[in-house]
Amino acid sequence: MGNVLPIPGPALRDDGGAGAITDAGGLHLHQLRLHAEYGGVVRFQLPGVGVAVSVADPLVLEQTAHIDERPASLFAFLEPLCEAGNLQVIGAEEHGPWRRVLLEVLAGRPSHKRHFGEFVSLVEGLAERWGGAGGDAVLLQKDLTALSLRMICAYALGGAGGGVVDAEKVVDAFEVVLSEDGGTTRASLALDYLRSTVDRVIAAREEGGRRADRSDLISALLAAGTSPARIRDTAMVTMLAAHHTTGVAVSWTLHLLGRHPEAAERVAAELDRVLGERSAPDYGDLRELTYLEMVLKESMRLYPPGPYGAREATEDMVLDGADGTYEIPAGTTIFYPFWAVHMNPDHWPEPARFVPERFTPEAVAQRSRFAYVPFGLGPRSCEGAGLAMVEAQLTLAVLLKRFRFRPVAGHEVTPVERFVLWAADDIPMVVTPRAVGD
Ligand code: HEM
Repeated sequence: MGNVLPIPGPALRDDGGAGAITDAGGLHLHQLRLHAEYGGVVRFQLPGVGVAVSVADPLVLEQTAHIDERPASLFAFLEPLCEAGNLQVIGAEEHGPWRRVLLEVLAGRPSHKRHFGEFVSLVEGLAERWGGAGGDAVLLQKDLTALSLRMICAYALGGAGGGVVDAEKVVDAFEVVLSEDGGTTRASLALDYLRSTVDRVIAAREEGGRRADRSDLISALLAAGTSPARIRDTAMVTMLAAHHTTGVAVSWTLHLLGRHPEAAERVAAELDRVLGERSAPDYGDLRELTYLEMVLKESMRLYPPGPYGAREATEDMVLDGADGTYEIPAGTTIFYPFWAVHMNPDHWPEPARFVPERFTPEAVAQRSRFAYVPFGLGPRSCEGAGLAMVEAQLTLAVLLKRFRFRPVAGHEVTPVERFVLWAADDIPMVVTPRAVGD
């Protein structure tokens, strides 16, 4: 450990930091600038919090990875979605057992296999529609986030198969809840509808007996003795966490492939080799699609769908980083700028370049595990990571087997932050059919 240094950062301003964020063009760009200027650990003003410490140095991330607490004020906006306590900030003793049930289902092969066929039908439905676009551009982000909402609805609530859920109505209600301020009558009716839908699914599962079915989220939560209110909250939070993130992961990947035709050709050749004449992969095929997986990972490095995380230090800490040693007191808000972590030039040479080969097993083995954190880290990391990878790989495989994607000339794609890393005016692309070997 070296001498303890003061944490560097810009001079404090009277406006609580809002002006600097606006000047930079958003918090995501502000973080990139701060870390480029001051290094891996930076002190900055975060509106609503005061002074926070932002960490883009993987060495330091690792030392904070065990922290099991989030700053409540930053996540208060999610309270209206939860009846039984805000799931983002509940204490570790409640969160741990809940996380274990979620992981057992979401990260397990039985649930992926069970829902795979339904996922394929949903993606093929979209592909049919795109196939009929007749040379007009399609809007990737709009259509792919709608697709992933349908997928997570099918996954979390059992989809159309169970007969209890009207998938289209659930999707519409969820969009109303997300797009309107929670105070409107329309939004509260939509929320009531969603909660009563989850109750109907719970009742149907209870009729079937409380079996611990690890392929079905609601059965597994019931079998673990979770209260109906907590199950309703889990369904809401899961749908919220799952749909924009997975949708933008796929649309950013197609955006990058559209600008890197040589990588797109390699993906197409891999799909032809693994799938032959088939239009969609089986679950078992995904592990053969190794180049596609590298492309997806590199895309989530360059455009991490969830660009931030946060923790609250539960004890006084001494953090030993690449640029120096720093002390932070208990109670400090630690900010994780995942985008800036992924652009850290000490760990990513020429960080702005799209290079899928950064994710060969050999390259991965040589890097700190904490240099790449699209799903966060530690005991509050994303429980849906495994499921998200299955959904994204499957979607990309079906679409890239069937189509070539060409950017629309003159359309500028601008990343903005809207809870997820979003393209400001969508990503329009022209799709044209391709045949095997084409
Ligand atoms: C590409 C898609 C996705 C990305 C990039 C992503 C990313 C993230 C990130 C960065 C976090 C915060 C982690 C942290 O604070 O360390 C998170 C949390 C979470 N995600 Fe995801 N996510 C994705 C898809 C999903 C899916 C499909 C689900 C569920 C089916 C899901 C469920 C959750 C939940 C429940 C949390 C809260 C974790 C907790 O507090 O225990 N996510 N996700």
